[in-house]
Amino acid sequence: MSRKKLVITGANGYIASLVALYNADRFDIVPVTRADVDLADPGAVRAYFSALDFDLLFHTAAVATTALCENEPEMTHRVNVESPIVLAEVCRDKGARFLFITTEQTFNAKTSGAPFAEDAEPESHSHYGRQKTEVDAWLAASDVDHVTLRLSWMMGMPLHGVHPSPNVALQVLEAVRTGTPASFKVHDRRCLTYAQNLADSFARVCELPRGTYNFAAETDGSVYECARRLAAAFGATPEEVDALIRPDLESYADQPRDYRLDSSKIRAAGIDPGTFEGNVAAVMADFGFPEKPF
Ligand SMILES: NC(=O)c1ccc[n+]([C@@H]2O[C@H](COP(=O)([O-])OP(=O)(O)OC[C@H]3O[C@@H](n4cnc5c(N)ncnc54)[C@H](OP(=O)(O)O)[C@@H]3O)[C@@H](O)[C@H]2O)c1
Repeated sequence: MSRKKLVITGANGYIASLVALYNADRFDIVPVTRADVDLADPGAVRAYFSALDFDLLFHTAAVATTALCENEPEMTHRVNVESPIVLAEVCRDKGARFLFITTEQTFNAKTSGAPFAEDAEPESHSHYGRQKTEVDAWLAASDVDHVTLRLSWMMGMPLHGVHPSPNVALQVLEAVRTGTPASFKVHDRRCLTYAQNLADSFARVCELPRGTYNFAAETDGSVYECARRLAAAFGATPEEVDALIRPDLESYADQPRDYRLDSSKIRAAGIDPGTFEGNVAAVMADFGFPEKPF
């Protein structure tokens, strides 16, 4: 049987390049970057992708920088909402499957109810979260064959050709390696997931029944507590952990955030994002750090 043709947008981005690296022998991958077509121009997006032939479209490209979405709501609406909807329509016209990534940030204004399942009512303080919510709602109401993954904050290390987006593991490693203290939020609870997990599960994700699935490692504790555990796993002594991993007590002090995700649905479908502890152990094993208990 011939391999499926998989188009990946945002091909130079973190998730896209990691997934492509570990799935190159399973799919015929067609990488698409900003140099090919700018998502700020939905008309050009429709023309470009309509001319391509493919079975699956993994749409990772987005403006995921919250500040840029706040400062440029119109441009980022075209990138994060209008173009993804165009891509979904192109997939429907071609009989191709649309694979979309949404975010935990769709829940960042919730004051209770975590961990959130897929059917929880979204509520977000940010343009970024609301833009993703708009696409989620459009897809759910559409007849497009799609799988949407709702990701937590992903973590990982650089690889050849793979440049991780800012993440807690990199921030902690930098603090431990350079001896430079860094602050981590105490009033912020979210799941922290090793991105490699997604790359390893990707072929099975493509086969999931249509719908939305949370993909997040079960995580207890605040970002600050998780950063401390990471520092210990990277080899910091208890004294170094205290000195280097500093509590940011101010952010969200007036309204603590908890937007952890419940991944029971994808687990029941046979894909397990694991626990934060297991994900940290996998990072340490993959990158040759002597794993230490925390
Ligand atoms: N990483 C996480 O923790 C996380 C968590 C939840 C959800 N997500 C979602 O996962 C997806 C991938 O995230 P990531 O961490 O891999 O992000 P990333 O490394 O920032 O990659 C995003 C890609 O989108 C491209 N892009 C941005 N604006 C564009 C435009 N106008 N036209 C064409 N391409 C454009 C960027 O191209 P350039 O390289 O040219 O800028 C970049 O390659 C995003 O949809 C994000 O919202 C990520």
